[in-house]
Amino acid sequence: MKPLLAIEGLKVYYPVKGGVLQRPVAWVKAVDDVTLSIDQGDALGLVGESGCGKTTLVNGLLLLEKLTAGRILFDGHDLAQLSKGELRRLRRSVQVVFQDPFWSLNPRWLVRDIVGEPLRVHEHLGREDLVSAVRALLELVGMNGDDIYKYPHEFSGGLRQRIAIARALALKPRLVVLDEPTSAIDVMSQHQILLMLAELKDRLGLTYILVSHDLSVVRYLANKIAVMYLGQLAEWGPVQGVFANPAHPYTQALFSAVPDPKRMGVDALISPAGEVPSALNPPSGCRFHTRCPEAMDVCRRERPAASPVGLGHFVACWLHSDPVPSTEGHLEAVSRLS
Ligand SMILES: Nc1ncnc2c1ncn2[C@@H]1O[C@H](COP(=O)(O)OP(=O)(O)OP(=O)(O)O)[C@@H](O)[C@H]1O
Ligand code: SF4
Ligand SMILES: [Mg+2]
Repeated sequence: MKPLLAIEGLKVYYPVKGGVLQRPVAWVKAVDDVTLSIDQGDALGLVGESGCGKTTLVNGLLLLEKLTAGRILFDGHDLAQLSKGELRRLRRSVQVVFQDPFWSLNPRWLVRDIVGEPLRVHEHLGREDLVSAVRALLELVGMNGDDIYKYPHEFSGGLRQRIAIARALALKPRLVVLDEPTSAIDVMSQHQILLMLAELKDRLGLTYILVSHDLSVVRYLANKIAVMYLGQLAEWGPVQGVFANPAHPYTQALFSAVPDPKRMGVDALISPAGEVPSALNPPSGCRFHTRCPEAMDVCRRERPAASPVGLGHFVACWLHSDPVPSTEGHLEAVSRLS
């Protein structure tokens, strides 16, 4: 089965401009060589400390950021090879819901116009059809059809997030990107929204990418997880396998204080000790070596390749990699593994 989305060697660098001509003098390597695929029906949780590149990665795959390198294939189509028209059609299949819905909803528009805008622009619906389509969308997200005549400020944070989800679903997308969808709302509403997102996923056959700081949210909604550190993937695989057996020292540190899995709405990611290095000048070899309690010489020199440690479960760490031939690190890695 071909994946719904495949990202190959994706890099997104932000220029740091300087001098009179404001030319790039350095690059923030926000996403630096990420390869990942997502099957239809998957919900992939993307986790990592603040600034590790989660939002840049999703913006890159939504083509909201210029790609420095890499390929994105959606349903087998290389986005770089598509004509503008094909790309526009395909873009409808991928929608995004941001963290704080208040800023992504136009405060002067009625809910009818906010949720209906994608339908008006892409489907050219007449007024009556538009109103009934928007009513149906609101009911789909558990709201009252009559709410279409209200403004965003008349709703709580949780209901505004439902409006944002209704808008994202208007064009019947296949992939929905949820960037911290519940972190700006109260715990009760978070719980209800997560239940709703799980139900919508099954009912509409959706695929999710879920960016979250909250491991309990990921554990609840996602079936796959990818752990990012300084622009690269440290570990990825099925949620159950990665939670039961985190193999990367960074993942082990992040997961070291996961509270009761039944409790949602708790920011459970634990940052390991030490400063996060700058993405302007990331460490050589394994980027985590400056904070890793297990670091060996080879870690400072060579970037570890991804190695399987379980079914569909991969880790980029020398503790789990074939050692580098004829180096000091070789012997070190062998002794660590034995
Ligand atoms: N427009 C930009 N210009 C320059 N650097 C940027 C820009 N946007 C993000 N960055 C930098 O890129 C890196 C990745 O940022 P990004 O926002 O993707 O992280 P994140 O994982 O989403 O963080 P958070 O969890 O706080 O949302 C950071 O070092 C950030 O400072
Ligand atoms: S490769 Fe080395 S530094 Fe990186 S996580 Fe593994 S042991 Fe630690
Ligand atoms: Mg972010």
